[in-house]
Amino acid sequence: MPAISRRNLLRSGLALSASSLVARSAWGRATAHLSGLLPAGSPGLASAAALAAVEPREQLLFDFGWKFKFGHGSDPARDLGFGNGQGDFAKTGDFAFSKVKFDDANWRTLNLPHDWAVELPFVWDEVQKSHGYKPLGRRYPETSVGWYRREFEIPAADQGRRISVEFDGAFRDVLVFVNGCFIGRNDNGYAPFSYDLTDFLSFGQKNCIVVRVDASFGDGWFYEGAGLYRHVWLTKTDALHLGKWESTVRATVSGSSAALALSTVVRNEGKLAQSAKVSWKILDAEGKTVETAEAPEQSIAVDENQTFTATARLANPALWSVDAPNLYSAIVTVEAGGKTRDAERISFGVRTAVFDADKGFFLNGKPLKIQGTCNHQDHAGVGAALPDRLQAFRLAVLQEMGGNAVRTSHNMPTPEWVDACDRMGMMMMCETRQMSSSPEGMAQLEAMVKRYRNSPSIILWSIGNEEWILQDAEAEQGAKIAATMVRRCHELDPTRAVSAAVNGDNEKGVSDAFDIIGFNYGLTRPDNFHKEHPRRPIYGSETASAISTRGEYSTDPLRNILSAYDVNNPGWGEQAEEWWKFYATREWEAGGFAWTGFDYRGEPTPYGWPSISSQFGIVDMCGFPKDTFFYYKAWWGAEPVLHLFPHWNFEGREGEEIPVWVHSNLDEVELLLNGRSLGSQKIPRLSHVEWKVRYEPGVIEARGLKDGKMVLSAKRETTGPAVAIRLTADRTEIKADGEDVAILTVEALDSQGRPVPTANNFIGFKVSGEGTLLGVGNGDPNCQESDKDPKRSLFNGLAQVLVQANKTAGEIRIEAVKEGWEGPELTPAKIAIATRKAESRPVVA
Ligand code: GAL
Repeated sequence: MPAISRRNLLRSGLALSASSLVARSAWGRATAHLSGLLPAGSPGLASAAALAAVEPREQLLFDFGWKFKFGHGSDPARDLGFGNGQGDFAKTGDFAFSKVKFDDANWRTLNLPHDWAVELPFVWDEVQKSHGYKPLGRRYPETSVGWYRREFEIPAADQGRRISVEFDGAFRDVLVFVNGCFIGRNDNGYAPFSYDLTDFLSFGQKNCIVVRVDASFGDGWFYEGAGLYRHVWLTKTDALHLGKWESTVRATVSGSSAALALSTVVRNEGKLAQSAKVSWKILDAEGKTVETAEAPEQSIAVDENQTFTATARLANPALWSVDAPNLYSAIVTVEAGGKTRDAERISFGVRTAVFDADKGFFLNGKPLKIQGTCNHQDHAGVGAALPDRLQAFRLAVLQEMGGNAVRTSHNMPTPEWVDACDRMGMMMMCETRQMSSSPEGMAQLEAMVKRYRNSPSIILWSIGNEEWILQDAEAEQGAKIAATMVRRCHELDPTRAVSAAVNGDNEKGVSDAFDIIGFNYGLTRPDNFHKEHPRRPIYGSETASAISTRGEYSTDPLRNILSAYDVNNPGWGEQAEEWWKFYATREWEAGGFAWTGFDYRGEPTPYGWPSISSQFGIVDMCGFPKDTFFYYKAWWGAEPVLHLFPHWNFEGREGEEIPVWVHSNLDEVELLLNGRSLGSQKIPRLSHVEWKVRYEPGVIEARGLKDGKMVLSAKRETTGPAVAIRLTADRTEIKADGEDVAILTVEALDSQGRPVPTANNFIGFKVSGEGTLLGVGNGDPNCQESDKDPKRSLFNGLAQVLVQANKTAGEIRIEAVKEGWEGPELTPAKIAIATRKAESRPVVA
């Protein structure tokens, strides 16, 4: 078993150069941030009321109480008999597994979002390297197909309504069956899809839906998860209803007011023609009505659509910006026959977003550099199935670093990610998956633009990433495809720039069609392009790919470890200082998006097995900052920063020179070792300072000066061995809604209560009371421990535990104890999280 011996080698090597992450003062802030950053009612998460559908429409969360079972990609006998012979689709209504009487007693019960890939063991199969060494694909038929089954009630009173099932996305190829009938298929991993089930439902009775999800094909070259990893909804409307994603609110700012262009489409699926009226109510952030508008009544024939438009004006609108993400909402209401027939709430913001070829990007007329990161949807413990709360948490981590933008590489994001960006003031480059003008490519693009075109956070649509063939060998084809896609974006949304992430010179192929030009890597290219095409705005669609391991201070290829000083990048990438100096010092550059904010599974560059995740992140898979986080915080943020590293636990290396770095935006830093000054250095703009210090145990201290006065200091102390465990939670009270999550940090402390930055102790967790363990992680790119078992090693002093509330108010109790026989005893730790009864979203019964 070569895998295991390699892993053991890794483990025994850890003690040699293991280390920690940040100076105590800085870590204090980071901890405070990571642990207290989203209090209840946080700006990132909408209240249940804001998320609820507007009456008479109902939108019910369809996430709870599913049954799950693995199928099989090649053996029908192990795939519910599906595909046995060729008769499956011969007669409508013949799929017995989707009838209520089918026995699913031995299926597993689970809630969505669910990613079964994260539950699978790792396999040493180089073909699966970029996808995180998981047994998925056509060569793994027994773990690549999953069946989800759910019985549900439809009340008799729903007779006459239209009822749809809506999937926010699934990985990847989905077949849907209801009450014995095949309903439809969806063949991509990220776009939302829905089916009108009305004709197939039994009213006043039990119904059954079955979803076969086949993850044999992938969309990407990174970990993508598998299964119903996003929310599912059941939506009920009148037969006369608003069209899906047809309501738009476009604000044009002029002087101190904003003109609102309001538009929607009403569809009549009833039995008689209808004369319908549409009205709009514009609400401010407090819910006060600030404007109303109405469109003239129109007649809508059976099975026809009608477009309704109106205008309104907002005097002195509260603009949406990254500092003040002011939102408005429009309640769109359809009336006919003296009754409200359908209504919906559209959240929108008033802002201008302009790219200028000479001066970069302007938000509301003010220059603003895009300080962005690219991210995949993937977190420790849960894989691609992120509860809403965790998505807002990830954005908060990036904002704490000074990030003001995210790119949803390389696919359209979840609605809750976009919603959190709107609420938190995070700008977004929103990207579709397939760069293609095929029906499927266009359908994905249209779903993205229509679904999110009212969101003020989105400043830019991206039609794809690094399509080398379309940029070069098939440039002519590329030019046509891109032109069709850009044209459609403009039709659906004339307010936003369209671009794509291009790794090349942008001189031919897809690039002609773009409103603004994105460069992936290659720092000589933007200058050349700017010289040649001075009228075309430019930004960095993807930069950096700097690589580092949290808390490690020397690169060690034997252990698949990369030093956390900002010194490593693959041939095509740049270090953090390199790219940011470049973009920050060119006025015409709008800014850029670093690859990546968070580490993610797969793409373990530059190593391979047993590395299962990337090391590109500025924070690790859990969101624990690597040291470079503080480079960005210093030069992206507004607050004074002083971050000293490495830790000061180098037992056995006494007398050796250790590089000591400080990331700071102050004027000058003095370094002291055990009280002796090692001199001061001025901090070069957009850079850092460093010393070589002969190691002796004790205290290393940095004192940061601004205008000659000491304003911050940071210390790293040599700690003793770990003797106790500490558990801290991001919040001590969460909602008892079956969805909310508490994010716990696990540390080991020495006898003086100091976190031990090199601790790698194995810790076990007991979760009891009104919640469950959702997952665990430690940010170690080489750790192949389970994400789901209630135990985890610390990695350089840290691990993360995610617990999820169930629906009964009470208390979740988490206990952390030393796990296994090896290593010294550790005093256990306990923490209780209160779960409070909260208004929760309406759910399917
Ligand atoms: C880029 C690509 C990303 C990621 C990155 C790693 O070329 O767009 O998805 O693979 O390289 O450096």
